[in-house]
Amino acid sequence: MARVDQDVEYGRLLRDVMATALAGEARGRPADYIPALAAADPSAFGMALATVDGAVFGVGEWEVPFSIQSVSKLFSLALALAEGGDGLWGGVGREPSGNPFNSLVQLESEQGIPRNPFINAGALVVTDRLLELTGDAAGAVRDFLRAESGNPAVGTDDAVAASEARHGHRNAALAHFMASFGNLRNPVGSVLAHYYAHCAIAASCRDLALAGLFLARHGVRADGSRLLSRSEAKRINAVMLTCGTYDAAGDFAYRVGLPGKSGVGGGVLAVLPGRGSVCVWGPGLDAAGNSVLGVAALDALTTATGWSVF
Ligand code: DON
Repeated sequence: MARVDQDVEYGRLLRDVMATALAGEARGRPADYIPALAAADPSAFGMALATVDGAVFGVGEWEVPFSIQSVSKLFSLALALAEGGDGLWGGVGREPSGNPFNSLVQLESEQGIPRNPFINAGALVVTDRLLELTGDAAGAVRDFLRAESGNPAVGTDDAVAASEARHGHRNAALAHFMASFGNLRNPVGSVLAHYYAHCAIAASCRDLALAGLFLARHGVRADGSRLLSRSEAKRINAVMLTCGTYDAAGDFAYRVGLPGKSGVGGGVLAVLPGRGSVCVWGPGLDAAGNSVLGVAALDALTTATGWSVF
């Protein structure tokens, strides 16, 4: 298909998907446990689709930066595996938790080893290891996002990071509890600061769709260099599918049929290996902390196109 035709096709597809998502009445509610996120407009919407050749298409507020929150956990995991290899899995598991993303309950009976790298406890372990490996975990995530998106403006929103830190009793509890089992190698305060700083990165759907392409390219970055082996990229996609949307991962797989990672800022990044990546943003969340409009739009996209890993 000629490139111009393809542009028109993707543009029309995204406009149709946006219309379908917005036709539903549910909007959800912005996260309010991080006060800096509470004022977001639950009707805001953006969506970007990037193809493996690096082309990117968008609709709505697709170039407006938002707080990427737990979508950052995908990049910290990829970088920790790239830098440090499989030893990471000694400190964090690969099973769905079936519990909310900030739950403490499994840690005590499971010796301070979190179920997976995408719940908060697991992401804190990943941040700890990335900090050990690089000396600057949040900086490593930020630099990766800048490089893959080509957008030097991607960076931490300090007001959001400070808001998280002020209200971060649960994350502090998780980190201290894991430290009591010897599962953190850096001081709890440093791990939390780097974790908040990468969660509070502001980036757009465009930036994140481009930054997710390495997973569609089986581990290869925008500049053609390899971040991960094909097998490691496959494994990250698998963990995204089973754990990326928390205790709603089953419903997400059922509706969308793609590996996806959500964040409480309302972003969802989904990957179709070999073809491309899609990022959607809508700040209203469901009870599991996933974007209502984001999941609706991905559902509409994959239903319309048949794009799925199944
Ligand atoms: O630690 C937190 O609670 C937030 N920084 C990230 C949580 C999050 O995004 C969960 N995703 N749906």
